[in-house]
Amino acid sequence: MPPTSATAKRIYLQEVVTRDGFQSLDRFVPTEAKILLINELSLAGLAKIEVTSFVSAQAIPNLRDADEVMSGIMRQAGVEYSVLVPNLRGAERALPHRPDELNLVMSASETHNLMNLRMTREQSFRQLSEIVRFADSSRVAINISLSTCFGCPVEGRVEEEWVLGFIARFRDLGVRGITMADTTGMANPAQVEQLTARALALAPETGFTLHFHNTRGMGLANVCAGVRAGAVRFDASLGGLGGCPYAPGASGNICTEDTAHMLGLMGYETGVNLRGLIDASRRLPEITGSATPGQLAKAGTIFDLHPAPAWLAEVRERAAAR
Ligand code: COA
Ligand code: ZN
Repeated sequence: MPPTSATAKRIYLQEVVTRDGFQSLDRFVPTEAKILLINELSLAGLAKIEVTSFVSAQAIPNLRDADEVMSGIMRQAGVEYSVLVPNLRGAERALPHRPDELNLVMSASETHNLMNLRMTREQSFRQLSEIVRFADSSRVAINISLSTCFGCPVEGRVEEEWVLGFIARFRDLGVRGITMADTTGMANPAQVEQLTARALALAPETGFTLHFHNTRGMGLANVCAGVRAGAVRFDASLGGLGGCPYAPGASGNICTEDTAHMLGLMGYETGVNLRGLIDASRRLPEITGSATPGQLAKAGTIFDLHPAPAWLAEVRERAAAR
């Protein structure tokens, strides 16, 4: 939904840690730990949680427990539960779990689509169109995730016209939302502002999400650029985990708590419980076995001030006496 004047300051944060964040970890996070984390995140005020993906277990072994995770979580009213799906088989597996949304994935670049999904873009488009048609009767919302919209790690430049061409074709199929993803952190703020403005103008009835990775340190600057262009939905990952294993050089998503903290300071309402997210993020290494790239879990918020050192009183006195 495009923002109205009453909602212009509301930004929707969509959590992807248990999907994008866990898919390329070097260890399998136990199913029970995934379920507990999703249940905790369900109480953190996030608009949407991308729970898992229904993809080939050979392609993404870390998410081979998608069925058990979807069956095990406790859903909360007001939170949407989405799952990533690459093909018809994925949709058939996902639908019995009654997700709120199918997030259908393909890439804007031919090479990344072949690497990630083993199909040409046109073959992907045909499968996704078929899913849109047969999902119509199940009343599940459809989102399309277009990977590598801002650059491909193998091809380099991704033409805006390709991205806008796929957006127009999916708009014509009547999908509810489209995500423009920067899969390997190649986007810069000027590019984001331009492409987002063009996409919103091309499909004004479509709910757009921006999905950034912080691979080159431009993630939060890109959020600001997206907001300037009118975007109100952003994917982010607790602790800044993330990355596509079929995109060379991929690394973490923008970090949920860092993003919420920044937007809050800028006067936007995200609805999230920032303290709760920071606590959850600080416990992430216990289940992933590795440190997280996010900043806030280490630094605290700007309101977490440090006590003045004991010797400061003496320095203050001496300075006053000078
Ligand atoms: N869920 C589970 N299994 C699936 C599946 C799905 N959605 N789609 C295919 N499979 C299985 C097939 O049943 C087959 O199994 P078998 O070997 O036991 O018979 C096997 O996977 C190969 O099937 P095929 O249709 O030939 O797929 P493929 O090898 O051409 O791979 C994809 C295509 C799309 C399934 C695979 O590339 C994939 O899952 N990619 C997702 C990658 C990803 O998630 N990247 C990160 C997110 S962007
Ligand atoms: Zn991603």
